[in-house]
Formats: sequence, structure tokens, C-alpha cells
Amino acid sequence: MSATSLTTLPATITNSQWIYLRHPDGIVGPEHYELRTQTLATELSAGEVLVESHYLSVDPYMRINQSLKPTYNELPHALNTVQSAGVVARVLSSSVPHLAAGDWVEGMIGWQTHARIHHSMLRKLDPAVAPVSTALGVLGMPGRTAWFGLTESGRPHAGEVVVVSGAAGAVGSLVAQFAKRHGCKVLGIAGGAAKCDWLRDNLGLDWAVDYKAHHSAEALSAQIKQLTGGVDVYFDNVGGMVTDAIIPLINRRARIVICGSISQYSGGLDQPELGPRFLHHMLYQRATIQGMLARDYVHRMDEMQRIVGPMVTAGQIVFEETIVQGFELLPATLNSLFTGDHRGKLLVQI
Ligand SMILES: NC(=O)c1ccc[n+]([C@@H]2O[C@H](COP(=O)([O-])OP(=O)(O)OC[C@H]3O[C@@H](n4cnc5c(N)ncnc54)[C@H](OP(=O)(O)O)[C@@H]3O)[C@@H](O)[C@H]2O)c1
Repeated sequence: MSATSLTTLPATITNSQWIYLRHPDGIVGPEHYELRTQTLATELSAGEVLVESHYLSVDPYMRINQSLKPTYNELPHALNTVQSAGVVARVLSSSVPHLAAGDWVEGMIGWQTHARIHHSMLRKLDPAVAPVSTALGVLGMPGRTAWFGLTESGRPHAGEVVVVSGAAGAVGSLVAQFAKRHGCKVLGIAGGAAKCDWLRDNLGLDWAVDYKAHHSAEALSAQIKQLTGGVDVYFDNVGGMVTDAIIPLINRRARIVICGSISQYSGGLDQPELGPRFLHHMLYQRATIQGMLARDYVHRMDEMQRIVGPMVTAGQIVFEETIVQGFELLPATLNSLFTGDHRGKLLVQI
């Protein structure tokens, strides 16, 4: 197959892969993965592209997909396979005319250093528009989640109170800023004083609350009530105690967006279901509770980028990235999502 390539490639290259090997009962970490190498032939079949990974995504959904019960996927992530993940990569050689060696692309390449992949699985990136790493963050899946989750499910109006949990993370930090741009008063919830200072000082939120400073939902609830008076939109990334604190504070016709429940991922999803005991608040306030999934908006990716892209280019939005150096650190970095050691979008760079 004729191909364009950066240099003359050897007949084979070594591909390093992180294999998901063991199901975690609790918090996921390096002990559930194994680093393997394979020999990859560089000769391409029709339609194939050879890529080299540069930025690899680390996301909470990876732990959801390790749950043994059905989630939004019917089956859990298969054992003994490469950890699936979004990746920003460089084209080394290509068999298709619209992708050339040196081009930047994004796709579900997985935690591996190289791949031969069909061109239809790749989205070509323009590095002149924004740093290519943003294809995994503000201009990628987290940006899509934040934009459509807030605007379509949260439906914020100027002057309303929006509360965002997980507010210093990839999705939450964007939701909070989008809500401010809608003219809302925004309270962010995050773990630790430093993250809360960042939310107020760098993201311009009206209030920030450290949930780790409270030992009960009641105490957290009291502080949020005192600050906001009540909540019109609750964008939930974490579930658990934080959500228990906010539901009693919802205003008439509040919209509750269930985006994630990270406090439940480390084993909780495999436990017997506990019925939510706060549904009476939905009744009193005629509130709406809606789950939202980024994958339902894939066909509207261009729309999100047309709206959010100019905010990024103009520097009107903070899109922090925490970039860990080293392919070997991928499983440990996944583990750190659950300790909250990062701000904004968490990535590993090779
Ligand atoms: N519905 C969708 O399509 C969709 C798409 C993307 C993401 N999500 C969900 O959105 C949420 C955020 O994802 P992300 O990629 O933006 O991750 P992220 O917020 O950047 O990282 C996760 C954060 O969760 C917080 N956290 C961890 N354990 C917690 C606990 N027990 N209680 C409270 N907070 C905890 C930590 O922040 P602190 O330091 O503040 O504790 C951590 O930094 C996740 O629940 C994810 O599953 C959903």
C-alpha cells in the first residue's frame, strides 16, 4: 500500500501497551494493569493510518466501565485488552489522502504508544486553532459534556443559582464558567482550600465550598444554604454526601443534572442499590432530575466547538490541564482521579 511517512520507517516498531488485567474491587491502580510490548508491522492496509501517541486521556468513565453490573455499556471493559482511552497522536504514515505524516489527530486509540488504525476512527486537529491537547479537554469530550449538560439539561437563566460539584475538575470547571457566562450566580464545590481559592480567584465564581471541611451532609448543606439561599440548577459530578447536602436546598422547578457520581465508582457501583431517599424534595419543588451522557451529543461536536472554540482562542475561559509526564505512570494517574490531586483536565504525555 502506498503511504506518506515522516521518514523511512522500519518494517516493524515496538508498541508499548497498558493492558487492563484484573477487576478492581475498590480503588483502581497499577496492580490492575500490566505493561506489555508488541511488535507492530508498519506496512499499512488500505484505509489505515499509523500513529504515535502524545497525550493520553485519564477519565473517571474508565472505572465505571470496570463495574461488573451493566452501566451505559452492556458489558464491562474486557480483561486482557488495552485500556480504551482517547488519545491525541501524530500521524507517522498514512494510506489516505486527507491525512499526511505529521498531522495531529484524536481518537479512541487506547493506552498504547502506537497504533495502526482506520482513518474513520480519527478526527484531524488544527494546531493553529488551539493546543492539540485541548482535543481531550475543553474542545473534546469534557467540553461537550459541560456545554450540552449545562445548556440542554440544566437550562440556566441569568440570575439563577447554579451549584456545581467536582467544580475544579475537567467537566466541572467548564460548567461553572459556562454558567457564569449565562449570567448565573455560581457556587463550586471542591476538595480543599487551594482548589476553592482557585475557583474564586481564577474562575471568578461567586462562592466556593470545600466539602472535605464538613463531616456531614447537614453541615455542608447549612453552609451552602447560608451562601446561596437555594439552588436552581445542580450540576452533579460526584453524588454521595455532597448531593445529599444539596437536594434539600433546591428551589421551585430546579433542574438537577446527573453527569457523574465519582464518589460511588470505587466499588459502590457493584454494591446492592440503595434507593434515593430525597425524592420527596422533587415533589415539593416540582423539580426535574436528568441524567446526561456526552455520547448522545457526539453528532453536535462541531456546534460545541463553534461556540466554545472562540472563547478558548480569546482567552475568555480557563481550561487548565494537569499533564503528567511518562507513559509508565498511566495507571497511577488514573488512581489519582480519586484522590483529587489534579485541577482541570488530567492527561499523560509521552
Ligand atoms: N455524563 C457524561 O457523559 C460524562 C462525561 C465526562 C465525565 N463525566 C463524569 O463527570 C465527573 C467528572 O469527570 P472529570 O473527567 O471532569 O473528572 P475530574 O472532575 O477532573 O476528576 C475527578 C474529581 O472528582 C473529585 N472526587 C473524587 N472522589 C470524590 C469523592 N469521593 N467525593 C467528591 N469528589 C470526588 C476529585 O476532586 P476533589 O479534589 O474536588 O475531590 C477529582 O479531582 C465524573 O463523575 C465523570 O464520571 C460524565
